[in-house]
Amino acid sequence: MRLLQLGFFLALASGLSALLIYITGVSDLRTCDQFTNESRFGSIAVSTKRFQESVNGLGLQAVTTGSDYCKVTINFPSDTVPKWKDPKTGELEGLSFDFNLCEAVATWEQVRNSTTILTSEFIDALPNGWEDYAWRRINKGVLLNQCKNKTLCLEKLSLVLPETPPYVPRQFDRCAVIGNSGDLLKTKFGKEIDDYDVVIRENGAPIKNYTEYVGKKSSFRLLNRGSAKALDKVVELDETRQEVLMIKTTIHDIMNKMIREVPINNPVYLMLGASFGSAAKGTGLKALEFALSICESVDMYGFTVDPGYKEWTRYFSESRQGHTPLHGRAYYQMMECLGLIKIHSPMRADPSRTVHSVPSQRTITAARIASEKLLRRVGAGSEDPLRACSIRKKLAKRKSTSVSGLRKAAVDHQNFVKGTIMYPLEHHPGHGVLCTLPKD
Ligand SMILES: *[C@@H]1O[C@H](CO)[C@@H](O)[C@H](O)[C@H]1NC(C)=O
Ligand SMILES: *[C@@H]1O[C@H](CO)[C@@H](O)[C@H](O)[C@H]1NC(C)=O
Ligand SMILES: *[C@@H]1O[C@H](CO)[C@@H](O)[C@H](O)[C@H]1NC(C)=O
Ligand SMILES: *[C@@H]1O[C@H](CO)[C@@H](O)[C@H](O)[C@H]1NC(C)=O
Repeated sequence: MRLLQLGFFLALASGLSALLIYITGVSDLRTCDQFTNESRFGSIAVSTKRFQESVNGLGLQAVTTGSDYCKVTINFPSDTVPKWKDPKTGELEGLSFDFNLCEAVATWEQVRNSTTILTSEFIDALPNGWEDYAWRRINKGVLLNQCKNKTLCLEKLSLVLPETPPYVPRQFDRCAVIGNSGDLLKTKFGKEIDDYDVVIRENGAPIKNYTEYVGKKSSFRLLNRGSAKALDKVVELDETRQEVLMIKTTIHDIMNKMIREVPINNPVYLMLGASFGSAAKGTGLKALEFALSICESVDMYGFTVDPGYKEWTRYFSESRQGHTPLHGRAYYQMMECLGLIKIHSPMRADPSRTVHSVPSQRTITAARIASEKLLRRVGAGSEDPLRACSIRKKLAKRKSTSVSGLRKAAVDHQNFVKGTIMYPLEHHPGHGVLCTLPKD
């Protein structure tokens, strides 16, 4: 139980410290660091007290709910001016957000070992995959009578449905996810961005005319529903026409027609994502999820994370309604302090900026195992790499997934999981994953 609590505590500490960075800007990175260090050496009680003191000293309020180390409510200072209004209720975004750090640690670790691209082997391996799932990924799928006519469903999905995942975990080394925020125009990050092995963009983000700020390279593009419907326009944004297009939602007859007739030769896939609850629905988070499932390290640009933001703007157009910016910022900052991503922004422009607060890999692993146990995740705490597989399917045939010239880290991971491919199962009790195993 002690280990369990310590694990949580460290996770909690780093998550909360995260907010300090955000609120105080770059100058106070050390506060976060100090605290993490403190918690590692000192007793939990002392650290909690110190932590609260330091939080309150900064005009912030961090509230934990007694015995539950996972739950934390983070209150922005009351003089923070929220600008975003919920279009449904007309209410301004709140200044108080609940996070479950245990969920975050456990879920993101799973993402790193999973594939986030929808494949036919996944639908085949899913119990009643065609009847219960496939039609949900087709626009107006509800009219398809649960894919009773499987040929028809296959036809609609065929252009975006590879048999096996085209990418494996850790296939790429350094990746950058570029948001669309107006703050990109404050710093010339272009050259720095082009230095990454992989660059992931979002929706209609232009490259031409902005290369000084956003770079030229573009490897992947995450598309929401609206952008995906304008697929013909989207492919023009990358002049090399090499971008891989990843659709977040559903395939639409309009898109199939464009792929065939324009024609669009870029690879197009549907994303298969894990669920993160309400905190994390936007394209930005999906892009990070995708990046974390194929990259060793993930850096993030253009997400309006600096304090004192005035408006939710895009670098290439007039200000436009975004969604829950304060909530998103707190979430991204939590991710950075959990060592998942590194955030770059006008106020954090130093490319070699180190994030002092990141707990060690060992700490994170301990917190993750503790979290899995507490959350009663499938196979929690087991040494078996396939412990989380709640659905296993041996494949009679599998085209060799071994992409030639894979990085050592990717090969090592493949060996570790014995060639297994793991797929997230949304809303599955215990967060088990679906595993397809090569026939031995
Ligand atoms: C962390 O704490 C240890 C022990 O209290 C101390 O020796 C070390 O200098 C501290 N490190 C940092 C970076 O503050
Ligand atoms: C099923 O769909 C295919 C492809 O559209 C079509 O050719 C076939 O007639 C359909 N079968 C039935 C029984 O409706
Ligand atoms: C780039 O600038 C030119 C000239 O101002 C303009 O016509 C064009 O639409 C711009 N392209 C993009 C992608 O913004
Ligand atoms: C993910 O894979 C790594 C090895 O590449 C392993 O150490 C780690 O335990 C795996 N995590 C989960 C949740 O399976």
